[in-house]
Amino acid sequence: MDTTRRGLLIGGAALAPALAVAAETAVDAKVPPAIRAHLGVTENPYGPSPAARKAAMKALDDTPYYAWSLEPPLIAAIAKREGVDPDRVGLCNGSLEALSLLSAHFAKTGPIVAPQPTYATPLLYAERQGAKLDWIPVTGDHQIDLPALAARAAGAGCVYVCNPNNPTGLLMDPDALRTFCVAAAKSAPVIVDEAYIEISPDPVRHSMIDLVRAGHDVVVARTFSKVYGMAGLRVGFIIAQPQRVKQLKSLIPTHKGRPGLAAALACYGDATYLTGTKAYLEGCREKIYAICRANGLGYLPSFGTYVFVDTGKPNLAFQKTLAAMGVEVRVFDSPLHPTWIRVGTASPAELDIFAEVLPKALKA
Ligand SMILES: Cc1ncc(COP(=O)(O)O)c(C=O)c1O
Repeated sequence: MDTTRRGLLIGGAALAPALAVAAETAVDAKVPPAIRAHLGVTENPYGPSPAARKAAMKALDDTPYYAWSLEPPLIAAIAKREGVDPDRVGLCNGSLEALSLLSAHFAKTGPIVAPQPTYATPLLYAERQGAKLDWIPVTGDHQIDLPALAARAAGAGCVYVCNPNNPTGLLMDPDALRTFCVAAAKSAPVIVDEAYIEISPDPVRHSMIDLVRAGHDVVVARTFSKVYGMAGLRVGFIIAQPQRVKQLKSLIPTHKGRPGLAAALACYGDATYLTGTKAYLEGCREKIYAICRANGLGYLPSFGTYVFVDTGKPNLAFQKTLAAMGVEVRVFDSPLHPTWIRVGTASPAELDIFAEVLPKALKA
């Protein structure tokens, strides 16, 4: 949609009006139809808080200069709010950076043990750098199989878990996860990806940051991309033992951007904004549930910015059918989920398009 239009606009000045009209109306059968509803991603269209927007705009004044000076205040704010020493906080350009670099690094001493399905992007990065991946299927009720993961921790380079998991949206029982992390971290670093934890019912109880405070080799990854609505500004962080933070710093090759750091500092823990953004995301999730129910589809009640839906149809083919109707969704590599798609909490307008298209796609 936008890309075609933007292409025309960028080159537009050079195009004669008649040519521009012809270019816009010509139909090329090889060009896939424009995507009208981007439900394949897990961003938050609610967007950044007003304070974050203002801070990012103001930071542009200083963009001739590198952003070193903005890192310590953000680290201090995160450390204070999470009750850890500043040397246990490491900033990154989105949490994907830390997850990828650390898992690839840890995998030098053994395989990465991880559930399947999960957010595989950082682990696939590690695999491209030579890591071995040890996938442990989720249980029949779609939960991460902690006992099975624990059984593989000895000899692993690291263990990765995502809470709530992506794509299932399920949160783990916090006590069971704590017990697992304490035991597994004796053998290998445990990475706990908490990208969506802020919209869980009790983020403090569900977070494993207390284990870092207690000295366990647990690396908690957080991001400003999801609930804080700042995916395009690329700010994330880890809370981990000081030696893990040092490792991350030594692996990151580049600087961070001013607008992102300034925006993150302006919105971190902003209770009013968080109440608004959570209500928005929960409303989107409810809308997805309602669409599923109206079409007789099963789904998992989610704690993330996405819903995992059983369409009853082979998922790759169904993804193509939806794409041909302008709706983009994600499917995941998981032998247990051949008919499931992940639907992201896009804007209500995009979800309206999904509601209109889904019954037609199911009949196609
Ligand atoms: C579970 C999970 N972790 C981490 C990320 C990475 O996000 P970012 O690099 O924008 O912080 C994502 C993004 O989709 C995700 O779903």
